[in-house]
Amino acid sequence: MSDVSLELINTEATVAGLPYGALVDALQSGFAAGCTVPVRHHHHIQKRSEPDATLLLMPAWSKAEDQDQFLGVKLVTVVPGNKARGLPGLTSTYILYDGVTGQQLALMDGNVITSRRTVATSALAARYLARDDAKSLLVIGSGRVASQIPDAYRAVRAIEKVLVWDIIPEGAEKLVRSLNDRGIVSEVVTDLEQAVGKADIISAATLATSPIITGAWVRKGTHIDLIGGFTPKMREADDATLKAARAFVDTREALREAGDLVQPIQSGVVAEEHVLGTLADLANRNVNGRTTTDEITYFKAVGSGLADLVAARMVYQQMRAERQ
Ligand SMILES: NC(=O)c1ccc[n+]([C@@H]2O[C@H](COP(=O)([O-])OP(=O)(O)OC[C@H]3O[C@@H](n4cnc5c(N)ncnc54)[C@H](O)[C@@H]3O)[C@@H](O)[C@H]2O)c1
Repeated sequence: MSDVSLELINTEATVAGLPYGALVDALQSGFAAGCTVPVRHHHHIQKRSEPDATLLLMPAWSKAEDQDQFLGVKLVTVVPGNKARGLPGLTSTYILYDGVTGQQLALMDGNVITSRRTVATSALAARYLARDDAKSLLVIGSGRVASQIPDAYRAVRAIEKVLVWDIIPEGAEKLVRSLNDRGIVSEVVTDLEQAVGKADIISAATLATSPIITGAWVRKGTHIDLIGGFTPKMREADDATLKAARAFVDTREALREAGDLVQPIQSGVVAEEHVLGTLADLANRNVNGRTTTDEITYFKAVGSGLADLVAARMVYQQMRAERQ
């Protein structure tokens, strides 16, 4: 019998284990150090009277030379037919193992891991790319990920005002109510062009398939963060936005997966070299992030197993520390 017990860490405990300030710092160290992240596995699951489903497996493990050894896998089920059942289409579970022995350590809420590591990854990028004096944040979208954006950004910049726009206005209203209730000054915007033109930071987490952000609207000095599009057909910003900006990605996978990069590169609007570096390059200072207050910066993320592993080990280590 194993002498290592499997901890079951519920949603509340997973949230409690991932405060944004500490998570952004842990991601900074994690991206600088790197880990092994194989290409994610997609398994197609045929369904009879509803759209087909997918099982995604996202493994990652520590490098052989790392002092602390962990291995983790995120399992994600994507069931589009759940919409008709009134259930979320996506369910994630994270399993953390001891990287030396392979023994199971913890099972935790993968949905929380995903949304918190995603916005914390964007906040980390903003640490290098947003103006130091950035005060206003425009959030585009109001779903599971977008609703976490203000909290993550407040860990890296002194955000004084949050503007929220969503294609479904009720979604934006609900998010603004909950932000104001928590003392975060925020308001719904209906004129997206005007809001894009006055925000210091714009962060989008939507399912948009055509551009919502138009380059001509973006003023100098703005930082743009695109979280949503994860297939070559999805877009959140137009070609002009990318062309005008110093562009960075979370990992180079983004160049193959994200329509916001795949499409303008394929059509020759920009060359692949227009993307100046990854989050690992920024964290290791191999490349300069923002160099002037006037330039427009751009970060496109598609998500990484590295960030999942960093977050999962943080939850686990904090839980163990609390017990001692
Ligand atoms: N980069 C990453 O690491 C990462 C991680 C998790 C999720 N995501 C992506 O972020 C996006 C949002 O995920 P979520 O879990 O918050 O989803 P969600 O369903 O909770 O929210 C989706 C949001 O997009 C809006 N939206 C839907 N269709 C739109 C359209 N055509 N135009 C503009 N807005 C539209 C909705 O109103 C809602 O506000 C998804 O594309 C998801 O794949 C990225």
